[in-house]
Amino acid sequence: MLFDERPKTRREELFDREAEIEEIKNNVNRPLLVISGIRRIGKTSTLLVALNEIGRDYVAIDCRKLKENYGRQDLYNLFSASLSTIADKVKDLLKGVRGVTILGNSIELRWKGRNSISLADLFDHLNERKVIVAIDEAQKLRGPLSSEIREAIAHAYDYDRNLTFILTGSEIGLLYDFLGVEDKDSPLYGRYYYSITLERFSKEKSVEFLRKGFAETNAKVNDETIERLVEFFDGIPGWLTFGANRLIEGKRIEEVREIAINVALNELENLIEAKRRASEIAGRRYKNALKCLGLGENSWSKLLNCLQRAEGSTISSSVLDNVMINLEKSSIIKDYEFLDPIYREAAKRLS
Ligand SMILES: Nc1ncnc2c1ncn2[C@@H]1O[C@H](COP(=O)(O)OP(=O)(O)OP(=O)(O)O)[C@@H](O)[C@H]1O
Ligand SMILES: [Mg+2]
Repeated sequence: MLFDERPKTRREELFDREAEIEEIKNNVNRPLLVISGIRRIGKTSTLLVALNEIGRDYVAIDCRKLKENYGRQDLYNLFSASLSTIADKVKDLLKGVRGVTILGNSIELRWKGRNSISLADLFDHLNERKVIVAIDEAQKLRGPLSSEIREAIAHAYDYDRNLTFILTGSEIGLLYDFLGVEDKDSPLYGRYYYSITLERFSKEKSVEFLRKGFAETNAKVNDETIERLVEFFDGIPGWLTFGANRLIEGKRIEEVREIAINVALNELENLIEAKRRASEIAGRRYKNALKCLGLGENSWSKLLNCLQRAEGSTISSSVLDNVMINLEKSSIIKDYEFLDPIYREAAKRLS
């Protein structure tokens, strides 16, 4: 089903993206591939479809589940859960390895003490065969363990010729910060990676996607409604799928837009809350900056002015620089515009 709201795993359910899947396949023998794109653009779906078609064993790590200050236990749990899903295929590689316990189809990893296994060791053992390590939303690995993980990836990059790392990220600047390919102090400094960027669908493609999906469900949706969906959601497949499902459930087109804006509002509020955990002032600043950007303050001076008015206080230019750099690194804003029009509408409603 084209409108299934879960990430797709099979080509028949994925609209378009043939070129990107070909690119992944053609470059799967390189050590490191990066798939980037804004939220809901189809990174996980494209990755999973490609992995299933390549047919190589893969360890898929979904880092979205990691909290900001995750620890080694959380990280090892992700690896252990993922390895367990392919236990029958990797058992022979991991059997008898120090720090690994195989119990039926579950693979346990010890991170503590002398009998533990490091990620670099784990990669070395997986390297006995061609294996793909797919890390979804890899920017979430930033944090206290980031240098250790980066070092393990850099080690595998140099020595484990059978391993391919495929990383995805929706906060693209943060993902590159994590990798540190431009950071002299990073073990991955200067390493080549193959980059694939997923772009939004054109208007024509969006219409075609919606028509095809509605045809599958036998839902009768007129051209005008399709046009409006396309207009609201600006070619972002996740939103198109989301909107199509709400219509099928019987919501009116205006309601669909409202529901989407509320989902986005919730996501913006979570982001502000994360900033607020660092400091009350930071939380307020991000909220006001997003609100000003939502209202269309699309230059540095307009934004500074708007922010100062909102706070009734002078604000130094370095503070505003910092906020903008972070919003850009999180792929929410580019050149003072929201990358997602639904986020923009949501930002106007922040209170
Ligand atoms: N090319 C496509 N064809 C059909 N459905 C798609 C396509 N791309 C994305 N979708 C749908 O859009 C939604 C988002 O897709 P997916 O989770 O793969 O995107 P993502 O970029 O990984 O999103 P996120 O940034 O939230 O992790 C899902 O419901 C998925 O089924
Ligand atoms: Mg995803």
